[in-house]
Amino acid sequence: MNLLTRIWRSSLGKKYVMAVTGIALFGFVIGHLVGNLQVFGNPDLINTYAHFLKSKPGLIWGARLGLLGVVGLHIAAAVTLSMANRAARPVAYAGGSAYGSAWRSRYMLVSGLVILAFIVYHLLHYTALVPGLNGTGRDFRELTANIPGVSEKVPDVYAMMVLGFRVPWVTLFYLVAQGLLFVHLGHGLASMFQSLGLRNHVWWPRISNFARVASVLIFIGYASIPVAVLAGLGSDYLKTRVPATGVAAATVNATANSR
Ligand code: HEM
Repeated sequence: MNLLTRIWRSSLGKKYVMAVTGIALFGFVIGHLVGNLQVFGNPDLINTYAHFLKSKPGLIWGARLGLLGVVGLHIAAAVTLSMANRAARPVAYAGGSAYGSAWRSRYMLVSGLVILAFIVYHLLHYTALVPGLNGTGRDFRELTANIPGVSEKVPDVYAMMVLGFRVPWVTLFYLVAQGLLFVHLGHGLASMFQSLGLRNHVWWPRISNFARVASVLIFIGYASIPVAVLAGLGSDYLKTRVPATGVAAATVNATANSR
C-alpha cells in the first residue's frame, strides 16, 4: 500500500486531507472576494481584471482543474468520514451529542452540500453564462464593453453582476449560500487547525477568534455586493452604457414614436 492510500484509509489521514484542502479553498474564497470587490470601483476595473484572467487560458484552466480536484477531495473526505462516524455510532448519544459534535458535523455536511449546489448554479450563472438561468430574460454573452488599452470588446462582467443581482430570487439564493458559507467557515476554519494538531491552550483561543472574525468579514464582503446592487449600485451605468434587450428597446422606441 503506498503512502497516499494509507493516508486516505485512516480517519486521521482523511482529517488532514480535509484540513489541507480546506485551507486551499479558504485561499480561493479570499482571492475571489478581493477580485469581486473591484465592482465597487470604476466598471473598467473589474472588466479589465476578468479580461486579464480570460486572456491567460493556461493559468485559468490550471487553477480550475486544481480547484476541482481540491473540492472533490474535500467532499469525498467529508462524506466518507461522516459515514464512518455514523457507522461507528449508530445510536445517538443519550440527551444529545457529545460537545454538540454530531449536530455540528451534520450541519457542516448539509451546509457544505448546499454550498456545492450554489457553486454549480453560480458556475452556470457567471462562468457558463447559461441564458435561461439568470432570471433577467437577457443573454449575458451579449453584454460587452470597451476597456482601456484593448481594441476589441470584452465581456461586461460589471453589467452582468449588476443586472444579475437586480433579480430578487437570485440575490436571495446568493445571500442564503453566503450565510451558509459563513456558518461552514466559522466552524470549519477552527477545526482545520485542530486537525493539524494546533488545539492547545495557547493557540486555541487565537484560532477560534481568527475563525470568527474571518468568517464574519468574508460574509460581509460577499453579501455587500448583491446588497449594494439592490441599493442602486451600477444603475447609472446600466442606463447609459448597457443597451436594452430587443424587446425592451422595441418598447422604448414604440413609446417614443407614439408621442
Ligand atoms: C457576491 C458574490 C459573488 C460574485 C459577485 C461572484 C462572481 C463571480 C464571477 C463574475 C465569476 C466568473 C468569472 C469568469 O469566468 O469571468 C465567478 C466564478 C466563480 N465563483 Fe464566484 N462570485 C461570488 C461568490 C462566490 C462564492 C461564495 C464562491 C464559493 C464559495 C464562488 C465560487 C466561484 C467559482 C468556483 C468560480 C469559477 C471560477 C472560474 O471561472 O474558473 N463565488 N464568480
